[in-house]
Amino acid sequence: MQKIVVLNPKGGAGKTTLATNLASYFASQGSEPLLMDYDNQGSSARWVEKRPTDLPPVRGLAAFKKDLRITRSWQLHIPVSSEVVVVDTPAGLDPRRSPEVMRGSDVFIVPVLPSDIDIHASTACLETLRKMQKAGLHRARIMVVANRVRPRSRFGDELRRMCDSLELPLIASLRDSQNYVMAAEQGMGIFDIPGRRASYDKRQWRLLTDCLDPAPAMEILPIASQA
Ligand SMILES: Nc1ncnc2c1ncn2[C@@H]1O[C@H](COP(=O)(O)OP(=O)(O)OP(=O)(O)O)[C@@H](O)[C@H]1O
Ligand SMILES: [Mg+2]
Repeated sequence: MQKIVVLNPKGGAGKTTLATNLASYFASQGSEPLLMDYDNQGSSARWVEKRPTDLPPVRGLAAFKKDLRITRSWQLHIPVSSEVVVVDTPAGLDPRRSPEVMRGSDVFIVPVLPSDIDIHASTACLETLRKMQKAGLHRARIMVVANRVRPRSRFGDELRRMCDSLELPLIASLRDSQNYVMAAEQGMGIFDIPGRRASYDKRQWRLLTDCLDPAPAMEILPIASQA
């Protein structure tokens, strides 16, 4: 099972957009991902509810809800069939104070808008994730994604410099596109859009999805060596 957490304490950076589109990607690959929503705005949970039943399925888990009738670990129980878990997180999340979200993570994806304010506001979170990684407090890979990039935006270079200084990869750059907005309204991601309309966006995602192919669920040993 691969756990991918999308986070950035800065509001509106594109966490839900990335999380739902990741779910749409893994669903299109036949993985039946689980989309966990830690944000009490419930945007990802709502997206799962809206998802048309004739599309590849995505399971939803509203982790922001506390169900007092059952234990927390039972509430957050991940079905064995879920090869990939994508986690959407709220604005303001502090990685140092969120052990439940951080536990067992394989990848952190941090979307950053290419603006001075957003780059500045995202730097502290990236520094924290990097320090925690160096201190052995998590073993996840950290990936930065530039989101809503407009043609000729001069902040692309600034974002790259910030990533270089923290030795973090700027893995992909996603354009500002109405395809994301229109897909989200219908419980879809760009990977559910047929034809050529979203082909440019899908190409931009390749750099990210190529790094996220799920590891084999388990090693299958020959019967003789299991004794
Ligand atoms: N690449 C994109 N192109 C066009 N619109 C986008 C793109 N990414 C995000 N948006 C839009 O920007 C707004 C904020 O995005 P989103 O809700 O994903 O951010 P968020 O980080 O989850 O916000 P919050 O911190 O409130 O949870 C939404 O209206 C979304 O549709
Ligand atoms: Mg959100």
